[in-house]
Amino acid sequence: MNKNIVCIGAGYIGGPTMAVIAKMNPDRKVVVVDINERRIAAWNSPDFRLPIYEPGLEDVVREVRGRNLFFTTDIESAVRECDIVFVGVNTPTKMFGRGAGRASDLQYWEASARNIKRLANGDKIIVEKSTLPVRTAAAMDAILNYGDSPYRFTVLSNPEFLAEGTAIRDLLKPDRVLIGGPQDEAGQKAVAELVDVYAGQGDAWVPRDKILTTNVWSAELTKLAANAMLAQRVSSINAIAGLCEATGADVDEVARVVGADSRIGNKFLKAGPGFGGSCFKKDVLNLVYLCESFGLHTEAEYWNGVIKMNDHQQERIVSRMFKAMFNTLANKKVAMFGFAFKADTGDTRETPAAYVAKLLNEEHVRLSITDPKALDNARLDLEGLDRIEYVEDPYVAAEDADAVLLMTDWKEYPKLDWARIYSSMRKPAMVFDTRNCLDQTALKRLGFNVLAVGK
Ligand code: UDX
Ligand code: ADP
Repeated sequence: MNKNIVCIGAGYIGGPTMAVIAKMNPDRKVVVVDINERRIAAWNSPDFRLPIYEPGLEDVVREVRGRNLFFTTDIESAVRECDIVFVGVNTPTKMFGRGAGRASDLQYWEASARNIKRLANGDKIIVEKSTLPVRTAAAMDAILNYGDSPYRFTVLSNPEFLAEGTAIRDLLKPDRVLIGGPQDEAGQKAVAELVDVYAGQGDAWVPRDKILTTNVWSAELTKLAANAMLAQRVSSINAIAGLCEATGADVDEVARVVGADSRIGNKFLKAGPGFGGSCFKKDVLNLVYLCESFGLHTEAEYWNGVIKMNDHQQERIVSRMFKAMFNTLANKKVAMFGFAFKADTGDTRETPAAYVAKLLNEEHVRLSITDPKALDNARLDLEGLDRIEYVEDPYVAAEDADAVLLMTDWKEYPKLDWARIYSSMRKPAMVFDTRNCLDQTALKRLGFNVLAVGK
């Protein structure tokens, strides 16, 4: 068995993860393959215009690309020369057939398994990196080891916990790395090989006591459970926010004091427009589907409540604007500040901003969207909708607007010249700060009507 690594899928997970694996394992060759030629060309671009924006990513790629990290569309050679194969292809929520709207679409993943089997020239360790339904490793094992192949494939589950915007930091200093493997001898040997990858050359990367090993099913379920519990915290604090607005309490104060209890902790208690991103909704829906398929209907309903609360939070944003803007939004101009699902990323998958934009569009609002990194994705997400303009400069976006609706907590937004914005807007001018990141008292002093979440 050689030490080389291939990753199938050069996306948000595959790209950054492999860049850091290559950095911390200079003695291994790491090859990232993708069927998407444009994506691979971007990863290889001479001026490092990489296909995804992630703070610190470019520095790592500059260090390792061409040294021991390579991007290619040639899956055949890559699978032949590497004995550890990560699978990081997309597994979006299925939009057709059985399980539509909830289950994961596994077609890309199964195609990868079949490709690996077809191209293999020796024993391989297969590492599931995409988030997958529990027991997928068993299906992968069945496909790979079916028939009388001379080669043995050992399937491990190694879920990724990195968050976008902090991917490189999370990868370099993870809270934990999780590796699930079969309990037999071959399985445990494969687990040990993967532990060595994460320990890094000369044990310079993840301390071995932070590399946790479990059986395969526990690892697969842990990923869903971890994301569902994080999503549930966001929905819980958003449910409290609604009550704060009704009673005059302040959700940030409540969260600060609740979070001071060390049993609860202070992270993931920020009320806002609801969670977005490629993982939370998909993983909670997956959990719901899994519960239902085992007849656990009360459990399914419980987790589904997390999603319902999240959708409600976005609908509430529009209802509150409606009420505050004299029950008519038609033809009014709203400047949407931020479209990414959170700051420091250009990613807009499941972004609350898209749902809110569509609801506002139904009310015939004229929308002017600005975002430092996500405008190209916004254009794609809202393609076909009228009355929307995409503007680089937030000051231009706000000109003549009736309201600024802040959706993403980009750190540049609190630093803007809000007096200048106020003077360029139609009066009465409103700011709806759905992230509670602006100095709301100062805005009121300038003359703005201010709406916030949970206040
Ligand atoms: C998440 C998990 O954190 C990560 O471990 C997993 O691997 C992938 O899914 P990510 O989606 O990149 O990562 O972002 P995260 O920082 O978790 O935020 C998710 C969403 O929740 C964002 O829309 C964010 O704005 C929102 N959020 C988060 C809140 O509204 N309040 C909070 O307190 C925290
Ligand atoms: P994630 O957030 O899970 O990384 P992305 O959608 O960002 O998901 O990336 C997944 C990548 O996997 C995409 O670039 C897609 O082109 C690639 N992909 C999908 N199917 C295959 C396949 N059969 N072979 C190679 N790459 C694939």
